[in-house]
Amino acid sequence: MKINHLLKQGLLDTYLYNLNLTLDKKTLDKFSGIKYVLMQGSQLRAKNLSMKLSQKILNINGTFFEPINLIETSKFYAYRTGNILSVSHGMGNTSIITLLHNLTQVLYFAGNSDLEYIRIGTSGGIGVEPGSVVLTDTAYMPNLIAGYKVSALGKDIIYPTVMDKVLNQKILQAQHQSTSFKLLVGNSIAADDFYLGQARFDGAIKPRYTIESRNSYFEKIKVLNILNFEMESTGLASFCNRAQIPATMIASIIINRLNGDQVTISTETLNKYSDHSQEVAINYVLCNQHNLNK
Ligand code: URA
Repeated sequence: MKINHLLKQGLLDTYLYNLNLTLDKKTLDKFSGIKYVLMQGSQLRAKNLSMKLSQKILNINGTFFEPINLIETSKFYAYRTGNILSVSHGMGNTSIITLLHNLTQVLYFAGNSDLEYIRIGTSGGIGVEPGSVVLTDTAYMPNLIAGYKVSALGKDIIYPTVMDKVLNQKILQAQHQSTSFKLLVGNSIAADDFYLGQARFDGAIKPRYTIESRNSYFEKIKVLNILNFEMESTGLASFCNRAQIPATMIASIIINRLNGDQVTISTETLNKYSDHSQEVAINYVLCNQHNLNK
């Protein structure tokens, strides 16, 4: 893990504005001993995952147990089960990157140097059936460049967005033979929004592209083995490459975009599909908990 040397020298403030956390002993104690950081968009899903983990690892029944949120802000939420932190990251690259800065700072100062960051999410499949799960190899920008453009001081720098291959292998090896859904490894596009950025026609603004130009875009996407659209993978991968933290994304497919734009599945089916990506992550962290307990 590689962190801003100014922080290491204690030259910067110890108040993390976006998490509303002061880096005092009480805070650092709460965040010490973490290995896995599991991130999802919504607070409810982060809490729900923490409850599942507590049931599986600590045998604590969710009916009588409310996980405690460790962050005192309505922007992000964090729940802890043993060495696993289940965090909400909000929507889009700007949100997840902001979280990643402050979360990495608190985890670093709490003495954690051997971390793995995994985003668990939902996504729109490109030729992939709903219910399947995609493990991301490389994250692309919508212009089909594998990288993430960061603009600072009037200059653009494109940072690499390859996910951690060793982590991906470990996740694959931890899965059960009997899983009821397909788990695929491929590439992902992180778009700037759900609508025009993902080549949809059902947003509020009329697109400047046509069905024909969209179809030829989808053809190029297939050649690059890009399997899904979502909104955070490039931010996550480029941050973690620079911070030298192994990271990846596990995303459930909730729509096959070759069949349409509108997500019309019921809430029940949406929850079921979302659980698939959680299941892949749980299998991974549990496999390692069992190894720890041997
Ligand atoms: N999330 C996205 O970003 N796009 C989809 O189509 C579905 C989920």
